[in-house]
Parts: sequence; C-alpha cells; structure tokens
Amino acid sequence: MSTTKTFAFIGATGGCTNSCLAHLLLSDLGYKAIALARTPQKLIDSLLRQPGITESIIADKLTIIQGDATSVSDMKKILLIPRNGQGNTTAYGEKSPGAVVVDGIVSGVGAVPSFEKGKLLSVKFDNLKITEESSTTLITALREVYAERDQQQEGKKPILAVVSTTGITEKDEKGDVPCLFKPGYHYLLATPHKDKKKMEAIITSAENQALFKAVVITKPAFLTGDGNLSTAKGLAKIRIGTEEDPAVGYFIARADVGEFLWEEVCKKEEPRWFGKKVTLAN
Ligand SMILES: NC(=O)c1ccc[n+]([C@@H]2O[C@H](COP(=O)([O-])OP(=O)(O)OC[C@H]3O[C@@H](n4cnc5c(N)ncnc54)[C@H](OP(=O)(O)O)[C@@H]3O)[C@@H](O)[C@H]2O)c1
Repeated sequence: MSTTKTFAFIGATGGCTNSCLAHLLLSDLGYKAIALARTPQKLIDSLLRQPGITESIIADKLTIIQGDATSVSDMKKILLIPRNGQGNTTAYGEKSPGAVVVDGIVSGVGAVPSFEKGKLLSVKFDNLKITEESSTTLITALREVYAERDQQQEGKKPILAVVSTTGITEKDEKGDVPCLFKPGYHYLLATPHKDKKKMEAIITSAENQALFKAVVITKPAFLTGDGNLSTAKGLAKIRIGTEEDPAVGYFIARADVGEFLWEEVCKKEEPRWFGKKVTLAN
C-alpha cells in the first residue's frame, strides 16, 4: 500500500478550502488531492492565483472530478483511490481491486450568495440547504463505498474536516459571537446558520461519526480575504478555541482557516482537535 496520503476536497473554489488545498499542493510531504468541483476550470484558475502553484504541480498532485456535492455518484468518485494511489485520472473513484478509501475529506461547501441590485442588505443564496444536503450525500456515498469495497480494505476510515460557523453553539447560541455582531448574525444569517446546524447534527450523530476516523468542525468568525496564501496572518497569530471555551473575535482570513485545516488536521496523525468543534478568530 502507498505511504502517501490522499485527501478529498469539496467546495475548494471557496477560500478556506482552497487555501488548505494550496498548502497540500505546495508541501513536500508527497500528499495527493482529489477535488469535486462543479466548474473544474474555476478551481484551476483559483489555484493558479495562489503563490507558487503551477500547472505542473496541479497536474502532478491533483485530480479534479467534475460534479455536484448533492449527487451520491459524483461524491463516490472522490472517496476511492486506486491501488497504491498511483493510477491515472480515470481510475479514481472506480471500484478496482485493492482500491482504498481516501485518508481525509475537507469540505467548505456553502450556499453561494448573490446580491439583489439596488437593494441594500438583500442577499439571496442559491441553495440554502446545501451544507445539509452535501453532508447527507457524503454519508450515503461513504456507506456505499464501504459496502462495496474489498474485505481486506475494511477498517480504514477517513478524517472529516468541515467549515461550519460561529453563532450556532448548543448551550449559548451566540456565545461565540462578539456582541456587536449578534444582531446581524441573528437577522441576516439565520437561514444559512440553520443549514450549518443541520450539517453539524448529521456528521456528529453517533452512527455517522462512526464512519470516520475523526470529525473536526471548524467554526470561523466572519471570513475575510479570498483564501490567497499571501493574505494569511499565520497560525501563530490567530486565536483558537473550542465550543466550551471559544475564541471570540470579529474576523478571520479564509487563508488562516485553510492553514489551520492543513497544519492541524491534514498533517497530523492524531490531531489535538479530533472530535472537537474549533472556533477560529483573529
Ligand atoms: N462568510 C462568512 O463570514 C462565513 C463565516 C463562517 C462560515 N462560513 C462558511 O464557511 C464555508 C467556507 O466559506 P468560503 O468563503 O471559504 O467558501 P464559499 O465561497 O462559501 O464557497 C462555497 C463552496 O461550495 C461550493 N458549492 C456550493 N454548492 C455546491 C454544489 N452543489 N456542489 C459542489 N460544490 C458546491 C462552491 O462551489 P462553486 O464554485 O461551484 O460555486 C464553493 O466552492 C462556507 O460553508 C460558508 O458558508 C462563512
């Protein structure tokens, strides 16, 4: 079996996940990535804007599957790696002898907003249930992959890291949101937050959590920047908390969320944050 690791990415045209993927592609650890993207060229263009990423790095380390995160058959294509992780692009996602499940899944899927012309503060989202739907799709796809895989591959489970949000904690809903932001979070973001809450409930239910080696839920403050690595403050400069003891802050750069996901989740064998809801703020 290959010693390298392969991570699957969903929502990688979004800044947080894009930044994590960029770190993976730039590292010399030998990791590979496979990404599900509705528009592959959009993902390639966003990666080429990252400092240091070239077409040859992308060709060498990344496989892009065109598809939708609400399609079980599309999702299954990013969950299996051909034997030794060295097959060609078309071998990805195919049930071939010895195919193994990916080492980890990083998802930053979220509703895509658009702003109505002439209406201040009027935001529309393309699918307000997308994080719930993509989580259910991932769970169904993973169950099918487990049911279909070779017996000798049984037992291997991926890590799951997702980007959720502050403002939805169980014991004190807005306890991890700074006072000035509480009204805005309450009125403007109620519906997307309901969606994130459902995602958290789905992936942390006992039966679904058991499908993963570990689940890490990141809960960033208000996101800034586009995820370009040049906009990161760096891990040493961000505050990291848990749901019980949150890091309360106004903003965090998408690039910093991505660096956290890479350094503290993807690179670690037994990350400190396994099974945790992690708040991130500047
Ligand atoms: N804005 C904030 O301040 C804030 C704060 C906390 C948390 N969050 C959440 O944090 C997460 C990451 O945010 P971000 O800004 O880095 O990313 P983002 O810009 O919200 O990107 C969303 C991603 O989801 C993908 N996506 C949406 N529907 C899809 C579908 N049906 N199939 C496949 N992909 C789909 C989009 O792909 P396309 O390129 O195809 O559209 C894009 O890659 C999001 O869930 C966001 O809601 C946001």
